[in-house]
Order: sequence, then C-alpha cells, then structure tokens
Amino acid sequence: MRILVTGGAGFIGSNFIHFIIENRPTWQVVNFDSLTYAGNLANLEKVAKCKNYMFFRGDISEPADVKAIFSESFDYVVNFAAESHVDRSLYQPDVFVKTNVVGTQCLLNHALEGGVGRFLQVSTDEVYGSLGPEGLFQETDALFPNSPYAASKASADLICRAYFKTYGMPIIITRAGNNYGPHQFPEKLIPFFITKALRDEPLPVYGDGLNVRDWLYVRDHCAGIVRVLEAGRAGEVYNIGGENQMTNLEITTQLLEALGKSKHLVHFVKDRPGHDRRYALDCRKIENELGWQPEMEFRAGLKKTIEWYITNKKWWHDITSGEYLKFYELHYRDRK
Ligand code: NAD
Ligand code: DAU
Repeated sequence: MRILVTGGAGFIGSNFIHFIIENRPTWQVVNFDSLTYAGNLANLEKVAKCKNYMFFRGDISEPADVKAIFSESFDYVVNFAAESHVDRSLYQPDVFVKTNVVGTQCLLNHALEGGVGRFLQVSTDEVYGSLGPEGLFQETDALFPNSPYAASKASADLICRAYFKTYGMPIIITRAGNNYGPHQFPEKLIPFFITKALRDEPLPVYGDGLNVRDWLYVRDHCAGIVRVLEAGRAGEVYNIGGENQMTNLEITTQLLEALGKSKHLVHFVKDRPGHDRRYALDCRKIENELGWQPEMEFRAGLKKTIEWYITNKKWWHDITSGEYLKFYELHYRDRK
C-alpha cells in the first residue's frame, strides 16, 4: 500500500505516521507538508531514516506542488493538512480559507485525475456548531460552524461530499473531538497550560471556564482513522470521539493537581469571541459498524501527556523560542 499523508509534520499527522510505521510496516508513507509554524520535522526524527518513509515539502493549495506529488499514484490519501487553531482563525481567516478550503479542493482535483483508492478527509466536531447542555452530535446533523476555522472545515467537508456525489470519488470524512497527547503545538489548551504551569506562569481560562469539549487521546484517533480507511464505506461520515466530556476548568484543575502546582495559577480572562459552549459526539456508527472504541482513560492519557512534555522540554523550548524555525531555514531554504 502507498499512502499520502498531508500535514504529517503536525500534531495528529506525525502521531499517525508513527502509528502506521509501527502497525502497517509494509506500507510506503509519503508525508507532504508545507511546514507552517505548526509543522515540525522534529516530530518525525524517529522515522526519518525508515526506508518506507519519505518527506516532500509542498503546499496543498499550490497546484504545481500537488501535481508533482501526484506524478506517482497512491492507494490512500489522508488529508490532515490544515490551519487548525481557532484563536488564530479569528484574526487571520484568509489563510484558513486558502489552506482548508482551496487546498482541500486542489488535492481532490489531482487525486481525482491521478486516481486514488481512498481519500480520507480529517474533519472536526466543530463543523456541527455548539450544543446546549443535552445531546450529542450525529453524523446526519446539519452543519452550523461558528468560527472561521470551523466554517473552513465545514466547507471542505461539503466539497468532499460533492466530489463523491458528482465524480464518484471514494471519499470518506471523519469528524473528531479535541485531541491531546505528545507533540501537540503549545498553543492548544492542554499543552499550553502544561508548559505554562511548568514555568509557574498564569493559565488564561476563557470566560467562566465551563465550556465543554470531548477529549480524545491522539493514538485512539489514529487507530480510528486507520479503521475507517480500511473498512469504512465511501461517501460516509464517521464521528470519532473520546466519549469523555469535561469542562475547561475540570481539565485545568486535574492538570494542576498532576503537576503539584497551585490553583492560584488559574486566571479568568475575557472570553473567546463566538466561543462554542459544548461539543460531544455520538460515536455509535464507528463503534457498531467498524468495531472501534477509544481505549485511553483520560487521567492515564493526561499523565502520559504531562510526562512527555516534562521529558521533552527541548522540543517545546525550541518552539517557544523560535529555534525550530531556524532548522527549516537551514535545511529547506533551497527547496521552496
Ligand atoms: P496542526 O496545526 O498541528 O498541524 C497541521 C499541519 O498541516 C502542519 O504540519 C502544517 O505544516 C501543515 N500544513 C498547514 N498548511 C498546509 C498547507 N497549505 N499545505 C501543506 N501542509 C500544510 O494540526 P492538528 O491538530 O494535527 O490537526 C490535523 C488535522 O486534524 C486538521 O485538519 C484539523 O482540522 C483536524 N482535527 C484536529 C483536531 C485537534 O484536536 N487537534 C480535532 C479534530 C480534527
Ligand atoms: O473540537 C475539535 C477541535 O479542537 C479541532 O478541530 C481544533 O483543530 C482544535 O484546535 C480544537 O479546538 P478548540 O478551540 O476546542 O481547542 P483549544 O485547545 O484552542 O481550546 C479548548 C478549550 O479551551 C476551548 O473552550 C477554549 C479554551 N481555552 C483555550 C486556550 C488556548 C482557554 O480557556 N484558554 C486558552 O488559553
């Protein structure tokens, strides 16, 4: 099997590549990533020399880059490449539309031309909008995205649907909840708060801290994606959730306890504009049809994640200092 992984230098994409190299050792993996601020080749150091792994620097929204990668054919394409941070989308929506919408369409065009066994679009529960205190998002729910990030992901989902219906492309969409685990860029809640607490800096909790997210350990997400890729039905959407709803305050409290830090580090700050109140996924479809279930219990997953950030201080120090960007300049300046 030959698999093209876009956005493989980011958080979930790099965990996914590790997962594939470990669990599907006969597959050939091509990682296609433009290396934005969120892409970090240090995430892939352990697999960089594997014979069945190759990195190609390119942008999914640049037709010439995408055409070049599709000069070879792929059995599977998994599209992780995206601008992924909601806060950034509030102030810089343009790049979200360019990468997440135009980029996805550009990939679809070339995958259609080149022929591909399966195209899996990695989407998010944010496309459904915000829930009240009760209920779960179903795959058949209408889309009500609220942030520019969520709207760009919802647009990509709709383009995927159209390519399935119009051109018969074998496309599947997965929609996951909030991921956490090793290698997550320290702008997202859990790694941001771990790295701040380790430096005894205040943790900025938005609004009243009672917004709820459905937390999913990243390896469980990767296992779910592989399951859908291999056995899911084309044209379908599959929710992938951790079945673990928690408020931001509960997460923050657990995290401070695990680190042995004072709750006085919690600082309530002005709310995020358009802040969705609650996400929670109904995962019966992937469970009943494909036999997938999340395995990681949240406390154990959080402990593993905290340990990773404690043992890998250099990784996030290089990010917070900007040192990791110099590495790209040195090694990739002539390639793009
Ligand atoms: P991330 O921001 O950590 O990584 C994104 C990767 O995409 C980076 O390596 C970046 O360099 C690359 N990239 C960005 N623009 C690109 C472009 N134009 N061309 C090629 N590569 C580009 O993101 P993540 O958290 O790993 O999320 C991966 C995917 O999963 C995204 O599509 C996101 O919407 C989706 N998702 C994320 C979560 C979550 O909790 N993090 C949950 C559900 C779905
Ligand atoms: O639900 C899936 C989505 O989860 C993914 O599609 C996105 O790519 C991913 O970024 C994530 O979006 P969120 O906005 O839910 O994640 P974030 O880590 O930014 O925030 C989680 C919650 O914590 C949210 O309610 C906002 C809050 N928060 C976040 C930050 C960074 C704070 O209170 N303070 C903070 O400093």
